[in-house]
Amino acid sequence: MGCLFKFLTAVFAVLCVTAGKELSSRAAVRKLPEGLLFGAATASYQIEGGWNASDKSPSIWDTFCEIPGKIKDGTSGRDACKSYEYYQRDVEMLKFLGVDFYRFSVSWPRVLPSGFADKVSQDGIEYYSRLVDELLANGIEPSVTLYHWDLPQSLQDLGGWANPLIADWFEDYARVLYDALGDRVKLWITLNEPKQFAIYGYGKDVFAPDINSPGVGDYMAVKNLLMAHARAWHLYDKEYRPKQNGNCGITIASDFAEGISDSPADVEAGNLALDFEIGFYSHPIFSTTGGFPEKLVKRVAERSAAQGFPRSRLPELTKDEIDFIRGTSDFYGFNHYSTRFYSAEDYKSGMFEEPSYDDDVGAVSGRGEYTTAPNGYTTKIPAGIRKALNWIKDSYNSPEIMIFENGYGDYGGVNDPDRIDYYKAYLDAILDAIEVDGCNISRYTAWSLMDNFEWAQGLSVKFGLFEVDYEAEKRTRTAKTSALWYRNLIASRTLDPADNPKYEKIEF
Ligand code: NOJ
Repeated sequence: MGCLFKFLTAVFAVLCVTAGKELSSRAAVRKLPEGLLFGAATASYQIEGGWNASDKSPSIWDTFCEIPGKIKDGTSGRDACKSYEYYQRDVEMLKFLGVDFYRFSVSWPRVLPSGFADKVSQDGIEYYSRLVDELLANGIEPSVTLYHWDLPQSLQDLGGWANPLIADWFEDYARVLYDALGDRVKLWITLNEPKQFAIYGYGKDVFAPDINSPGVGDYMAVKNLLMAHARAWHLYDKEYRPKQNGNCGITIASDFAEGISDSPADVEAGNLALDFEIGFYSHPIFSTTGGFPEKLVKRVAERSAAQGFPRSRLPELTKDEIDFIRGTSDFYGFNHYSTRFYSAEDYKSGMFEEPSYDDDVGAVSGRGEYTTAPNGYTTKIPAGIRKALNWIKDSYNSPEIMIFENGYGDYGGVNDPDRIDYYKAYLDAILDAIEVDGCNISRYTAWSLMDNFEWAQGLSVKFGLFEVDYEAEKRTRTAKTSALWYRNLIASRTLDPADNPKYEKIEF
């Protein structure tokens, strides 16, 4: 009898939890948690233009865009949205949205034309200083990314992220910015999406600097970027935090990965893929042990040996380096767009180039049963963001998570219901992660404030809340319906599934 009672109580408890979970994500209108801040993001090369203004030197993206065939539509970020000239208008748009903060990045070659800190560009620093002042005057907090992929070409000529000395160069660059802006900037993001610039830029030929050294150059960059990040954090922590009182951390592309089926091999493939996608960068910083994920280390060592390498292609982290990197982020910066599903069953040896990152991951990935929306570039899998947030919470003892990017790419148009649907569904899943699962999330950032230069996709793919008219000399911006929706969300502090604003022409 006692046993039966216990059993029934347990069944009842499970039903309640499940019902609660479902109920919460179906609730008609949801209040946004108090204290959750909302923002919008951009990055220097994607919006500024002014590629040779004043004493700015070229970045690796200026160089890369010159190579025929690299950018899908043959465009570049030379002029982009001309924010270097018209930054005040960007602030007006942010004000219109009612955001709490603006995440933007600094162009390293604009501030340090030689790449080194021997000579600081006054014009470069003044540009960012004016932007920071304009934001603060409008009640918007500046959140600054030090590196969003536009490395000075001069440093690339010396190896860029493959040269361990980049840790010195990056620390010097960080110091210049902490000195110039740290009295007013209280939130620093060292690096944006390490995987994207290391693996795609050094292991493949799809991103600048086009090194294409798969499974070798990319892994060198990973170690060096972790050291560089840690140096910038320690510098802030020791010398600047005591007087400036801000926070400093990294933001990591945290798309979710899981097995395409329940077969043990697929589940295992999904777990290993998570280690490669996220853990490669997060484990050294956020885990209690530090260092690269064990299974990843083992896998690369095994593949390297099988390929005849006398040592693993993955550079070792010494005990001192592990200790130096561990714990170097005041928050978990989280960028998320979608989920990929991994199949070990479909994987066949020789499928990928060897050696390579893809071969090391050792599974075939795809979007499973999900298809891209007809007019969309980003696959909508909202359940994935909740899983990714929980994975981070469970793996790293519930760090404070700041969502620094989330958004939907399409091929244009001011009437963008698909984007609104995406934001609603993802925010609903995020609210579940907060309210049902107890994830500690303090910020949400829409990518992006406006359409901009989408790297190898050029101007063809658009993520903006505002449309940008690239034909117009002043790059006129027009609010999309998603901008009106985001504005309502922030003003009402409610997520209302029925809020579908009608388009009205609002230009900046
Ligand atoms: C991540 C990058 O940080 C950003 O620069 C890019 O535009 C978005 N993803 C969309 O692809």
